[in-house]
Amino acid sequence: MVLIASTIPLLNAQEINIIPTPKEMTVGNGTFKFSPKTRIAAKGKEAHEAADFFIEKVRKSTGSELIKGKSRKDDCITFIIDKDIQGKESYKLEVTSRGILASASTGDGLFYAVQSLLQLLPPEIENNRPAKNFTTWNIPMVSITDAPRFEYRGVMLDPCRHFLPVSAIKRQIEMLSAYKINRLHWHLTDDQGWRIEIKKYPELVTMGAQRTEGDGSIHKGFYTQEEIKEVVEYARRHHMQVIPELEIPGHELAAITAYPELSCQSDTVTPRIIWGVEDIVMCPGKEKMFSFLQDVIDEMVLLFPSSYFHIGGDESPRGEWANCDKCQQRMKQLGYTKEAQLQSYIIDRIGKYLAQKGKHIIGWDEILEGGNLDASAIVMSWRGEQGGITAAKAGHRVLMTPSSHGFYFDQYQGDPVTEPTAIGGYSTLQKVYAYNPVPQELQGSGKEHLVMGVQGNCWSEYIPNASVLEYRLYPRALALAEVAWSPIEKKNFKDFVRRVDNDASLRLQTHHINFHIPQPEIPNASCNRIAFTDKTLLSLTTTRPLTIVYTTDGTAPKASSTIYSSPILLDRSTTIRTSTILPCGIMSPVRTIYAEKAAFAPASNPEHVENGLNLSVYQGTFLRPFQIPEKADSQKKIDRIEKIRAQTKVPGNVRNVKNYAAIADGFIKIPENGIYEFSSNNNQVWIDGKLAIDNSNASVPRYSRENVQLALAEGYHRIKVVFLGGIFGGWPTYWDNGAVNLRIAGGKWQSVPAEWLFHE
Ligand code: ACM
Ligand code: ZN
Repeated sequence: MVLIASTIPLLNAQEINIIPTPKEMTVGNGTFKFSPKTRIAAKGKEAHEAADFFIEKVRKSTGSELIKGKSRKDDCITFIIDKDIQGKESYKLEVTSRGILASASTGDGLFYAVQSLLQLLPPEIENNRPAKNFTTWNIPMVSITDAPRFEYRGVMLDPCRHFLPVSAIKRQIEMLSAYKINRLHWHLTDDQGWRIEIKKYPELVTMGAQRTEGDGSIHKGFYTQEEIKEVVEYARRHHMQVIPELEIPGHELAAITAYPELSCQSDTVTPRIIWGVEDIVMCPGKEKMFSFLQDVIDEMVLLFPSSYFHIGGDESPRGEWANCDKCQQRMKQLGYTKEAQLQSYIIDRIGKYLAQKGKHIIGWDEILEGGNLDASAIVMSWRGEQGGITAAKAGHRVLMTPSSHGFYFDQYQGDPVTEPTAIGGYSTLQKVYAYNPVPQELQGSGKEHLVMGVQGNCWSEYIPNASVLEYRLYPRALALAEVAWSPIEKKNFKDFVRRVDNDASLRLQTHHINFHIPQPEIPNASCNRIAFTDKTLLSLTTTRPLTIVYTTDGTAPKASSTIYSSPILLDRSTTIRTSTILPCGIMSPVRTIYAEKAAFAPASNPEHVENGLNLSVYQGTFLRPFQIPEKADSQKKIDRIEKIRAQTKVPGNVRNVKNYAAIADGFIKIPENGIYEFSSNNNQVWIDGKLAIDNSNASVPRYSRENVQLALAEGYHRIKVVFLGGIFGGWPTYWDNGAVNLRIAGGKWQSVPAEWLFHE
């Protein structure tokens, strides 16, 4: 590259914002002045496609129609196919002050050259309507020679637990492909809903695509084959392959709903209305199961040109097979002694069928169980890295998506009270970024090459809509992109965060993506209502270094509000409203923390007490405490609060449960004056006649989001706990432990001990 001295302010390598960071890049001094007069030139079909993609982005964001014509020496951006460039997705991008040359041996490579070029332009290039009068944009002079570290750079979307419309899928394809993610793993069938139209089996979507939840809400949706084609074509234009997943043989309750003969006992069921693993699975003793799956595959392979086909294989209990004559007969015929061998029989048989259709199977790491896995099968390691390690050692190609290393994007990214309720776990941007998809155990083993790549999974039990999906995906998907694409020696978290916070965030915002911004957190407290008796210091922090601003006058914080620099001294009741600010100026949502100054609430003086609480039980399903009638159906004593949720029989599948509500009341004997923090997933906790914790508006009663600190004097305080038995947001409250937890603020949590509970 010719580096020409220039009077334009110098840019240094620190100011290049490309994500994922390129394999090789030199930054020159100076810029190319890109204007509406810049000529676009292209040679070859793929080069024209890349040029047209670029022209369209410029037209949308500026209103300027760039002219395509013959290449010229000055003021020209040229796209060419150069068969000498090695690597299917590699590209070169040369920006000089006179022009730009993008070259690659394939359309994929040129598409990525365009993506890098777009990231050299200001974030305004992402506008969907002309935002300003475009005159000139300076593009820094760079010379990039780029190629991916891994061929498979994926994201899994799950429209089964909560449906995602076509528009939401396409939006993610557009965003993710801009960061060179090239695989969409589309999880289309599960217990909670079947989402793909299969013409031979219409009931799959008329019966299997809708469920009525425990609270009466209806969740439904499916993709017609025409919509699937539309998505696949949209993905193709974004150089992304769509890999469908058809779950076999577990996670199939929606299909069994429509075609009961698919299960061992031909069960009459509905799509599952709770999360977790379903006992009822498909019956490999019946030929019907195989003919059904083959018919479904026949239709699916026509819709998905990818050479990969995901057959699930995870979390399929074998208890039904052990009790099924047909399954046992099949085992006898085959000389099997363990049900696990039936699992591998299914995977093998369906794998062979798919092989005839030119497809390689991918399966979750359970497909290793039972042995006999065909050498061509690709193992997706999700239960940590072990599945991937074992599979690679056995010669299988593997895809790493370990829940243990942050690649379950349904997990929290920070303190749960600052985020929409998630499935649990903890996966920060840094954790994702730090991952090396070649596990240590494989390094130097000669098997490294079997690691095809890496994927982030967005399971949707706790992703109720596209907005929450985007909150979970971004910016973690950008960390995934760099893990998957960039050479390990080029990775640098600090610089990555700089690029996210200065540039990528503006691009995401331009697309109205609801991306995650770390919010202020209180170290060692997950609480928006704190208490003190005299004065206190409120410390704030963030999961990665960011500026925190706050107000104490009730107004919303602005960029010009007080910057948090040291713990805030509070000496009276105060409402703190606080946000973080990214370097690009975007602010996080506001967090409001109520700090109450109060004397220790005085204890009661009950005349006579005995151990335990009173429990009143009300039969029926109640969605809100006010629906509980005056008169209880029964009354008893309980020694521990946990027993509040154990007053009915709840089988593992939570079917045919006689729901009830219960109220426990009495006294909690506080051992010494102190600030006590309470936490509970029960519907309500009342202390001294005041509503202390109210979860009745929570979408899912998990991860108590309503913790509270109370100043309590030593002695007896009235306590009332309200439990509503039922299924809320897919979560049976019987699965909560029923506890009220407490601690001296900042100390160690414990469930309220039995010795502290009394009734009159
Ligand atoms: C999985 O998370 N069950 C693959
Ligand atoms: Zn069976």
